[in-house]
Amino acid sequence: MAEIVAAGEAMERALELLEGGDVVAIPTETVYGLAGDATNGIGVARIFEAKGRPRFNPLIAHVADLAMAERIALFDPLSKRLAQALWPGPLTLVLPQRPGNGIHPLVTAGLDTIALRMPKGFGGDLITRLGRPLAAPSANSSGKISATTAEAVAADLGARIRLVVDGGATPVGLESTIVKVEGGTLRLLRPGGIAAEEIEAIAGIKLLRGATAGIEAPGMLASHYAPGAPVRLNVEKIAKGEALLAFGGHRAEGWQGAAALRNLSASGDLREAASNLFAYLQELDRSGATSIAVEPIPFDGLGEAINDRLARAAAPRDISTSET
Ligand code: TXA
Ligand code: MG
Repeated sequence: MAEIVAAGEAMERALELLEGGDVVAIPTETVYGLAGDATNGIGVARIFEAKGRPRFNPLIAHVADLAMAERIALFDPLSKRLAQALWPGPLTLVLPQRPGNGIHPLVTAGLDTIALRMPKGFGGDLITRLGRPLAAPSANSSGKISATTAEAVAADLGARIRLVVDGGATPVGLESTIVKVEGGTLRLLRPGGIAAEEIEAIAGIKLLRGATAGIEAPGMLASHYAPGAPVRLNVEKIAKGEALLAFGGHRAEGWQGAAALRNLSASGDLREAASNLFAYLQELDRSGATSIAVEPIPFDGLGEAINDRLARAAAPRDISTSET
């Protein structure tokens, strides 16, 4: 069972767990977050595992200050103005990623944009001490409502995590508002802890609402990472010129002729496979192979989310998928 430790006494233990690639439930001003080091693929995979998320939705990366945010993402003047006015606070900005930012691709589900926010309180202090951003979705198991007290986190996730940092009831109690700047316009992707009007007053423009092609509504994400090369799943025999995305110790027939090969996990560890998934797909895509053949991956544990993402990567490109 997870230990519940008061925020005033939890810093060293939280740092130790995060440094070791583990997750920690932390208070923020909005809701409790289930945090992992955003640069550590195993830590990020553990977040999905603890939440029992059947899919890899992109997560919010939490930063300690604007300098850290600017090392991760490319700020246009409007985004910067919003960040300066409303951070720390319940505003999340979706921005283009800065290449080479060190963020693990599982955080962004392979997208080239990233959601960023600067939390108040213990979370902010923890990120400063760690010196790296924290990926943190709400600290609840998939399908349940967000937790606003340490006790609620422990009751839900206590058997699957080691530490809940208790900062009392979260003052906002609602997840952050998510907006995206698109060519001088602002789109509301998720209403939340900061009212749209407050953002509009600072931006001097109205927020666009509602989903358009490729834009995600709350919990609905139409844009997914899709490799340029076609993807074939559950492959037992590979064709000439294909790249192979392998799993485990048993190779598909013809593997010696693969144009490129990456093994998600030679030992068959689904957590390791999840942490390698997006990076390896991108590498095989860049290899110039005619297509990417993927070996069968079991459906248990994180395997369900891995198979979900692979199915999306393999789906016909003119059909846009959405998710909940
Ligand atoms: O208040 C909050 O925002 C809490 C606390 C813990 O900070 N966090 C939170 O995270 O609600 P999460 O993972 O439950 O919600 C993240 C949502 C995703 O569902 C997705 O819709 C959106 O953020 N998102 C993340 N990255 C995105 C991206 N690159 N483009 C569009 N939407 C993105
Ligand atoms: Mg949530």
